[in-house]
Amino acid sequence: MSAVDEYPTGKVPLLSVRNLVVEYGYVRALHGLSIDVHQGEVVCLIGSNGAGKSTTLRAISGMIPSAAGSVTFNGDDITGVPGHDIVKMGLAHVPEGRQVFGDQSVHDNLILGGITLSRDEGRARAEHELDRFPILRQRQHQRAGTLSGGEQQMLAISRGLMIRPRLLLLDEPSMGLAPRLVHQVGEIIIQLQKQGMTILLVEQMATLALAVSDRAYVIQNGEVRLSGRSEEIENNPEVVSAYLGGSSTSDTVQQHQKPAQSGKELQ
Ligand SMILES: Nc1ncnc2c1ncn2[C@@H]1O[C@H](COP(=O)(O)OP(=O)(O)OP(=O)(O)O)[C@@H](O)[C@H]1O
Ligand SMILES: [Mg+2]
Repeated sequence: MSAVDEYPTGKVPLLSVRNLVVEYGYVRALHGLSIDVHQGEVVCLIGSNGAGKSTTLRAISGMIPSAAGSVTFNGDDITGVPGHDIVKMGLAHVPEGRQVFGDQSVHDNLILGGITLSRDEGRARAEHELDRFPILRQRQHQRAGTLSGGEQQMLAISRGLMIRPRLLLLDEPSMGLAPRLVHQVGEIIIQLQKQGMTILLVEQMATLALAVSDRAYVIQNGEVRLSGRSEEIENNPEVVSAYLGGSSTSDTVQQHQKPAQSGKELQ
């Protein structure tokens, strides 16, 4: 399998990462990584601890610099562009660890997610997000730090959606959540895709990632080791033994059904 898949439509990808190299001091974390994400797709990066999944997302969103390679988003070369400018271009990154502002209210967290918007637009977008996640509306005046883990993850995703991104980067949304809530995160991803969102998902929980995504890249030691359609990756014996606990038919996979594409745009 090639490192970069040809997409059947032959369309230009929304996100194209080529030969990306990232170093933390003397430690090289990415060794020339290449991935594509097409409009409307959910693509996942799976791989073990320290493989370079979060580093890939951080370099795409401009949180950290890259030493070599390029990132093209929506036709623009965004390599080296500061993170706050990349957000304005419509790329939202929900980082690892649900980094909500614990002392701020749920509503204020949303407003902060829309900091690049005008005041009126920020308020309107926050209302829209509170409609999307009714539990957040119930808790809108509560400090974010008092929310449950699942609710905080919902808030983190919702905050990322405030700018109506063209591409959403999600880093380990299931981390630390109880199985029922992991399922809920999977449902949220499926719903977002139905509404037209394009998502690059990083997950250690490979069963979840493969169940909700169209295509997958397996990352190992800062390189793409395998790539392909998620169903193929799910049945690849190498992936099954390394990431799926020896079985490719876990409950999580069975619970999630891939949605048909609706093409409806997010509001
Ligand atoms: N801030 C940092 N300083 C130095 N090295 C780092 C830093 N962040 C990550 N690394 C190293 O870069 C490599 C890739 O780490 P990264 O966090 O991208 O992995 P990951 O695939 O997201 O892992 P996990 O599943 O544990 O989140 C690892 O070897 C890690 O130790
Ligand atoms: Mg990580």
